[in-house]
Amino acid sequence: MDSKKIRVNEPTILVLFGATGDLAQRKIFPSLLDLYNKDLLPKKFKIVAFGRRDWSETQYREFVSSALNQSKVVDESRKIAFLDLITYEKGLFDDDAAFSALGKRLSFIDTDFNICTNKLFYLAVPPNLYELILSKLSKSGLSIPCGGEKGWTRILIEKPFGKNLEDAERIDRLLGKQFKEIQIFRIDHYLAKETLLNILAFRFSNSIFEPLWNRKYIESISIKMFESSLVGSRGAFYDGIGALRDIGQNHLLAMLSLVTMEHPKVFNSDNIRKERQRVLKRLVIPGRNEIRKIIRGQYEGFKESQGVSADSDTETFFRLTTSIKGSRWSGVPIELTAGKGVGTTKTEITIEFKDVKTFFHDIKTNKNKLIFRVQPDEGISVMFWVKTPGFESFKVHSEKLSFNYSDSDITKIVPEAYERVLFDCIRGDQTLFATTGEVEAQWRFINPILKNWKTSEMKIYRSGTNPEEII
Ligand code: BG6
Repeated sequence: MDSKKIRVNEPTILVLFGATGDLAQRKIFPSLLDLYNKDLLPKKFKIVAFGRRDWSETQYREFVSSALNQSKVVDESRKIAFLDLITYEKGLFDDDAAFSALGKRLSFIDTDFNICTNKLFYLAVPPNLYELILSKLSKSGLSIPCGGEKGWTRILIEKPFGKNLEDAERIDRLLGKQFKEIQIFRIDHYLAKETLLNILAFRFSNSIFEPLWNRKYIESISIKMFESSLVGSRGAFYDGIGALRDIGQNHLLAMLSLVTMEHPKVFNSDNIRKERQRVLKRLVIPGRNEIRKIIRGQYEGFKESQGVSADSDTETFFRLTTSIKGSRWSGVPIELTAGKGVGTTKTEITIEFKDVKTFFHDIKTNKNKLIFRVQPDEGISVMFWVKTPGFESFKVHSEKLSFNYSDSDITKIVPEAYERVLFDCIRGDQTLFATTGEVEAQWRFINPILKNWKTSEMKIYRSGTNPEEII
């Protein structure tokens, strides 16, 4: 379907908290510009950036402009028109007066548009600031919609959703006081990645794989997210968080849920979300013995990074194995590995099938594999066996069938995950956003690990190490 047909064209203001942060520069503004270029933003649209730096609007626009130049090739005239949508409101998150000035700014835009606009509050800030901003939104009355159906307010909230289960529950209670569930959009941009959404299409529309999608035929599942980049300027944020919270609790478990969820009875938003949630609730919570086996690592030099404490024991790498209760998956090991500062950058999901009882050689050690290449080199490969030509009748070797996004023109229409997040939030489609139940199940799984693994040894690895060798 033409995406312009599903665009919601109601006057909307996006209020961005965390306006000078890394996420705003790397993902949010480039994605908004892409939506703007594709004509997918409402015709009447404004971005109000709320930040503490003592900048004028012109200075802030210059800041956004240079962030856009760094992240992509941009058409200058389109960029200038886009920058015109942005205004800057200086203020501190704990300052009531700043929130009332923000309110005035929003009313001013409403008057200018001559309508009660939709307001989207985007919390692109570290989780320790959620409570403060939410309480100020409540106190200032900004979260209250100025209209009924039209003139809504919604909240977009980044991951990690809190620092642990208790935190997440508290934030959810606070959110629940001001917003109904249909107004709350909990972001995990991995749920919105095209290559991950394709897993559902691939699984549920191919009869050659779906019947095999269970413990009878699948030996193991492995989900890997490797990044060669270091923490860079995000040291202060990352040091208090670590790899398990930063991407384990959310991205890795989101990938797991897409690979292992049941086919929803009806393929709609509610049911897809329910099935993701249901499978996460069946994760086997690790006990002390399993936790002891989890590998945690830190790359050499992490402690010297800007913003990181000199005696930090925050992990930049982890490897753990889990499984899912129930008749489909019980006993199938699922390995989750992730790390920064390793020798490769790739996100990949591998499904390894059981070996067949056969007289052909070599199969026992190299089983059939199905690999979803999430990024880079996006695509899907199947590893299978063929006879090796020649006089030996029973000799086989492995070959690969591959689908590569880059081989066709479709790459041009693949939206960036954050484009999808912003577009879906504006049009009110919650399918690709985590439910409160999903977040709770994720924390129930992660919490005991966080509480108990500090006693286990931290493996220090050189940056650039082959991640498979961190064991
Ligand atoms: C973010 C994490 O959520 O995802 C980062 O905070 C990580 O640490 C990033 O680098 C990876 O996202 P992507 O889309 O670049 O794979």
